[in-house]
Amino acid sequence: MSQQEQHDLVFSVNPGGALCGDIRVPGDKSISHRAIMLGSLADGLTTVEGFLEGEDSLATLQAFRDMGVDIQRPAPGKVVIQGAGIDGLKAPAAPLYLGNSGTSMRLLAGLLAGQRFASVLTGDSSLSKRPMRRVTEPLKTMGANITLREGGFCPIEIRPSALPPSEYVMPVASAQVNSCLILASLNVEGETRLLEPAPCRDHTERMLRGFGYPVLSSGNEVRIRGGGRLHACHIDVPADISSAAFFLVGASICPGADIVLRHVGINPTRIGVLNILKLMGANIDTLREYEAGGEPVADLRVRYAPLKGVRIPEDQVPLAIDEFPALFIAAACAEGTTVLSGAEELRVKESDRIQTMADGLAVLGVKHAVTPDGIVIEGQRALGGGVINSHGDHRIAMSFTMAALRATAPITILDCNNVATSFPGFADLARQCGLGLSVAHAS
Ligand code: S3P
Repeated sequence: MSQQEQHDLVFSVNPGGALCGDIRVPGDKSISHRAIMLGSLADGLTTVEGFLEGEDSLATLQAFRDMGVDIQRPAPGKVVIQGAGIDGLKAPAAPLYLGNSGTSMRLLAGLLAGQRFASVLTGDSSLSKRPMRRVTEPLKTMGANITLREGGFCPIEIRPSALPPSEYVMPVASAQVNSCLILASLNVEGETRLLEPAPCRDHTERMLRGFGYPVLSSGNEVRIRGGGRLHACHIDVPADISSAAFFLVGASICPGADIVLRHVGINPTRIGVLNILKLMGANIDTLREYEAGGEPVADLRVRYAPLKGVRIPEDQVPLAIDEFPALFIAAACAEGTTVLSGAEELRVKESDRIQTMADGLAVLGVKHAVTPDGIVIEGQRALGGGVINSHGDHRIAMSFTMAALRATAPITILDCNNVATSFPGFADLARQCGLGLSVAHAS
């Protein structure tokens, strides 16, 4: 895989436009990563449909190919994994390069901690600035032989080690940490007990059960016994609510908008964006609710509604953690003040999402005040235009694209290459729904 990073894609969005249509956004990123990981560890042939063909989940796919797993992609969104079995991964010939993907790196660190071979995990410049001690410290307490570059950053070097049973109380509500430790515990002889400070996405637990592997969860506690086997299965990946979020917000702020989003994952640990938008007065209908691959799924219809500013309940923060850039745009278009607190985790995402969003909101003339763990945003009748630097953060780029629906002048967004990490085809889909978006290479 090429390790060369590109920063030159520019989004130019005309002010106004519409948001109408009946669409399905790409597959859930978290579930796509986990499908590759668990399918690779299973016995037998796992088939996946609706797989996200974004750079992040493809980085996970490549990592498992590099460890000898036979993974085929027979058609768009389809993946067939010939599982290697829980003990069947092979030592990679070179460091595993995980691009921009924090989920790949943190989950793999756990999965590889109890293997019989050594491995090294590397990533792009953004991933190389993201905190990794949050996974290496608990893995060390579980007995892993794992080291980081100075400062607590990747490359992560992992050497073989036996992992005895243990118990860990997690200091941050992070599904990546939780999932990392669950995957490590598959190689523990005995039971691992994990305690989370607040509920966060539980796709790993659900999918393990789908592979026939018992996981006990009650309240904030997860218990899992190592040494079992996973049985191959079929996984239908729902559309990613985190990608749907841009259209949920876009339609909510755009007079006349009416959009249907199909097959959206509405796992209760992911629906903070729906809860917060509804609290703000959004008009979101659930047309149909059903289940796919152990996950609740729905078709959603969103129409314009005048939004009002709210104090975001802190218990919603882990449930909407990736959707705040889009929610900040909703807040900028709402009547009154929106207050977010308890969200310091936003500072260690693909960019410092509080500061990057605040800088972009300032360009659009939105009054706001940044706090250490959140932001206060004063809603405006209309947004201005200007040039915004996404700092290579896919969710910032897509959020400001939607802001143009309420802008009075064009918005130019720099450094948009990483939109492809989570939402390939975003520009085409946004245009199809009525946005005046063009994409060019910076001159
Ligand atoms: C993810 C968990 C979240 C989220 C990330 C994907 C996952 O991170 O921000 O995009 O797939 O487990 P944290 O759990 O660290 O908040």
